[in-house]
Amino acid sequence: MKKGGVSSEFLDILRSKSDIIDVASKYITLNRRGSNFWACCPFHMEKTPSFSIKQDGQFFKCFGCGESGNVITFVMKMENVDFMTAVEILAKNAGLELPSDQDNEEMKKKKLERDKCYQILRKTTEFYHENLLNNPNSPQAQYLKSRGLNQQSIEKFKIGASLDYDALPKHLLKAGFKIEDMITAGVVGRGDKGEIYDFYGNRLMFPISNGFGDVVAFSGRSVEANPTRTKYKNTPQSPIFNKSDILFGYHFVRDLKKEHMLDTIIIVEGHLDVITCHQYGIDNTIGCMGTALTTLHANKIKRLVDNVILCLDGDSAGASATYKAIDILREVGLNVKVVRLKDAKDPDEYLKKFGKDNFLECLTNAVDCVDFILHDRASKYDLTTNSSRNSYIQEALDYISKFSTPAEQEIYLAVVQKLTHVSMDALKRSIKNNNEIKIVDKETLAEPVQNNYIIESKIMLLSSILYKKITNFDEIKGLFVSRDELSELYEFLVSKIKEEKDYNVSTLFDNFEITPNSLIDRVINYKFPSDEVFETFLTETIKRVKLTELQDERDKLKEKLMSSNDDNEKYSILARMKEITDLINKEKK
Ligand code: UTP
Ligand code: MN
Repeated sequence: MKKGGVSSEFLDILRSKSDIIDVASKYITLNRRGSNFWACCPFHMEKTPSFSIKQDGQFFKCFGCGESGNVITFVMKMENVDFMTAVEILAKNAGLELPSDQDNEEMKKKKLERDKCYQILRKTTEFYHENLLNNPNSPQAQYLKSRGLNQQSIEKFKIGASLDYDALPKHLLKAGFKIEDMITAGVVGRGDKGEIYDFYGNRLMFPISNGFGDVVAFSGRSVEANPTRTKYKNTPQSPIFNKSDILFGYHFVRDLKKEHMLDTIIIVEGHLDVITCHQYGIDNTIGCMGTALTTLHANKIKRLVDNVILCLDGDSAGASATYKAIDILREVGLNVKVVRLKDAKDPDEYLKKFGKDNFLECLTNAVDCVDFILHDRASKYDLTTNSSRNSYIQEALDYISKFSTPAEQEIYLAVVQKLTHVSMDALKRSIKNNNEIKIVDKETLAEPVQNNYIIESKIMLLSSILYKKITNFDEIKGLFVSRDELSELYEFLVSKIKEEKDYNVSTLFDNFEITPNSLIDRVINYKFPSDEVFETFLTETIKRVKLTELQDERDKLKEKLMSSNDDNEKYSILARMKEITDLINKEKK
């Protein structure tokens, strides 16, 4: 069986060399309790750990959000990557070579295309960088100087210059790259008459890297005094670039994390903000490149830290971006603080105007995001009039009840109390109503749990094969003939046993789509009765399932018999019914 181009044999080796505890502890802090490891779930927001990893079974399960998986799915979720990329990451970690001959054609083509893009971007980055260094009088170099960026920053960020429209395509052609590939990588454009040109002609070039430090895109800034073109020209979507999961400077903060020097990440808007912050030694800064933060971004950040400080531009666009960013960042469980700069449009300008110490003081005084919102919203109301004050309180309480734990609610209510002078008692009573409405909403949304005896029993039996390695699986074969996923699981387990293949729970995640509360998820997480009664429980279950199925079949035959007009058919139905009755009697003995 193959998945995504690698054989199950390779996956077996990969999994045996990638202990899920080792891999997971690179991302989250695990605590051992009994035979399991526990942590706060990295996939949803929680304060008490409900995320568990079983080392013997090599799989994780979150009892809060229901997510589960093996080491490969863990990496897929943590790194936001597809199956093959997760396999690549783990293989690299374990020092294993990916069996390339096992890649299927489609995968091979995609990988080649991606590799070409990386090569072209690397070559282009070097080319632009050399341009800049060799042409200190170019408008691009002069512009950088006027912005106060030093040599060290130019080196660190590999800043470059496109000096015209032809040199880059020529350079890349000479290096042996195909025009089509340059266009795919997003560095060369083709005009109406088929002519090709440097996509970023005459701009100052900022390379943008992925988490591993490979350049995947560019932002080209115009350097004209009175720009007639857009300020920045960015690489469009490409096989290696998706702007909704790339953050400017992320690979640098990732390196800080490796050196255990990272506790908080500062998020700013512009490239120049990031570079200037780093130049001033504030190198835990990344940039969202003027776009709205996505959940992908937020998850990437959460993998490195628990705390972020949002320091977006001082204008009103920056304020509304701050609101949106707070929601996204909080959603993944980050502690979010906010800085709103005064007397400077962005961190770059602030640092140059007021210096490092003042900027650091702003960061130290960053306010908790809910605090920020409560104050900022209050400034939009006239709190001296009753009706306006009530509207504010309603808005504030809605926000608080939606986003905070009971303990946090106390703290935030105190803020509202201070701003409005309404008594704490009254505020607490109002928020209690809000909270209750929320609980009802949740309950009505909950999915009905299937409570079917046969299904429950099948789940128990499969779990017994999986964990208790029971050997009488042939006896229950008859129960797994319908075409559903439980039968598929039965076939899978039995084939592994018959091939005398080593298998454990983690194998299942490579072969089945396992969603929270799905049938297979329930097999994996089945809770057995105590060992003393297990044997009896097992035989009783098998017996009862068989009986129930036989009785079901007999009921159906009865209906068929009543509606049939064909004597031959009636005869065979009756014969089968007799057989069933005998079987039932035998089982009942
Ligand atoms: P800014 O206009 O604030 O640019 O946009 P900046 O980099 O801080 O430059 P200065 O300091 O104003 O000269 C913030 C970010 O928004 C994205 C870029 O990533 C930029 O860094 N942006 C802005 C674009 O992608 N395209 C644009 O036309 C403008
Ligand atoms: Mn800016």
